Amino acid sequence: PVRVGILISGRGSNMASLVDASMAADSPYRVVRVLSNVEDAGGLAIATAAGVPIWARSHKGLKRAEFDALIDAELRAADVELVALAGYMRLLSPEFIAGWEGRILNIHPSLLPLYKGLDTHARAIAAGDAEAGCSVHVVTPELDDGPVIAQARVAIRPGDTPGSLADRVLVEEHKLYATALADYARRLR
Ligand code: GAR
Repeated sequence: PVRVGILISGRGSNMASLVDASMAADSPYRVVRVLSNVEDAGGLAIATAAGVPIWARSHKGLKRAEFDALIDAELRAADVELVALAGYMRLLSPEFIAGWEGRILNIHPSLLPLYKGLDTHARAIAAGDAEAGCSVHVVTPELDDGPVIAQARVAIRPGDTPGSLADRVLVEEHKLYATALADYARRLR
């Protein structure tokens, strides 16, 4: 199986779903490391409970490229072949991305190219959109840019708040990311 490293900053529900899916006997990928720039990210305990080794260090006080070089070294020490961003809330440096060209995936909570950046659900509701959703894309140096490889759509209901919409999109994120990562890993082999 393709060796995957997952980067998180928070609760790690997408990471947990990727780890769960990787337990299937026929999974084309295996999660070998979970890394975080937030030392007390909730997802770290989930990874540990699932038996996945973790690495966590605050980025504070380091230049972006310096911090990313630490992540890069840890990924390479673990023989990671494919990186999955799962709620990793920091821009990656161009140097880091160049070193992993075509080998970093991200999940973003919008129907890209709509609503790059933050507050995606509030912006979709404010715009009066009929649908929201999530996208898995290959990471390139531009924020939330890069080829979209999978999308899932969710209807926006009257009375939806950013929170209620986020809850329904998240259910789709968990399914979409596991499928898209598996498909991508299969094609790398
Ligand atoms: C997810 O909704 C993910 O799509 C989003 O953060 C959440 C993380 O939740 N990512 C971004 O906004 C990236 N810019 P999780 O930690 O439970 O997976």
